[in-house]
Amino acid sequence: MKNKTIIITGASSGIGEATAYAFAKQGANMVLAARSIDKLQAVKQRCEHFNVQVIVVKCDVSIEKECTELINQTVKIFGGVDVLVNNAGVSMRAMFADCDIGVLKQLMDINFWGSVYCTKYALPYLIAKKGSVVAVSSVAGLVGLPARTGYSASKFALEGFMQSLRIETLKSGIHVGMMYPGYTASNIRNVALNHTGATQQESPLDESKLMQPETVADAIVKMVKNRKRQQILTGIGKVSKWLNILLPSHSDKAIYKFVAKEKDSPFK
Ligand SMILES: NC(=O)c1ccc[n+]([C@@H]2O[C@H](COP(=O)([O-])OP(=O)(O)OC[C@H]3O[C@@H](n4cnc5c(N)ncnc54)[C@H](OP(=O)(O)O)[C@@H]3O)[C@@H](O)[C@H]2O)c1
Repeated sequence: MKNKTIIITGASSGIGEATAYAFAKQGANMVLAARSIDKLQAVKQRCEHFNVQVIVVKCDVSIEKECTELINQTVKIFGGVDVLVNNAGVSMRAMFADCDIGVLKQLMDINFWGSVYCTKYALPYLIAKKGSVVAVSSVAGLVGLPARTGYSASKFALEGFMQSLRIETLKSGIHVGMMYPGYTASNIRNVALNHTGATQQESPLDESKLMQPETVADAIVKMVKNRKRQQILTGIGKVSKWLNILLPSHSDKAIYKFVAKEKDSPFK
């Protein structure tokens, strides 16, 4: 990883922030992208303790032009791109029947289109370096999650995009990886959108009991180093995937029960 150039979207918080530190420890140079420039500056300073070169780029990944600019600035400063981590994402919590359709569009714009734009403009540089593109998906990208229709849809779309890209680029030597974290302690549930598109402001889960973002970050670094195709990080994630394939109606009922137990569950 030493002196490689890594772009991480959504590096101002949670999994993206932890991934920045994990790559910094490996000696990689980094381009940190998100909308909150102040938070990115703080992450940059901490990364620099590892004697790596870091730039921050204010980038709303739902805006194509800002993604083009992210890649252009990276290439201008570092001369290429070795790794792109498509991590930026938002979630939601609302039943589809009650939900403003704009919420679903916003999630598609950020979680799906944001990854597509960044990948599109980084691809020629990734191919030139036989580099890696990794997307941070979710167990909700393998099995539909109620009250997260837009979130699951965006991650399923990402799955189709990345799988197709992997096959298209089979002979080009690039690595295409998919990471599926389970519930991970981060800001995601505080800023998840409710049925009106406002942030819900609190997590329905006990965040202290969840996977730590550092665990996901270390797995992302390993995935890039070993050019691993995919990884589901939790036992419950693996069981959910296979239960949905082998016993789909049991899977539906189990997920219903699971979400019904959430604090202020939308099923109540
Ligand atoms: N935490 C979990 O339980 C969990 C589980 C499975 C998968 N994931 C996935 O992990 C990824 C990271 O989420 P997290 O849990 O670390 O959440 P988080 O703490 O809320 O971080 C999300 C990051 O995405 C950035 N972001 C959001 N909208 C953006 C936009 N329009 N343009 C650019 N950046 C944007 C945020 O930065 P700004 O607000 O500064 O732009 C922030 O840096 C997401 O793709 C999420 O779906 C999370």
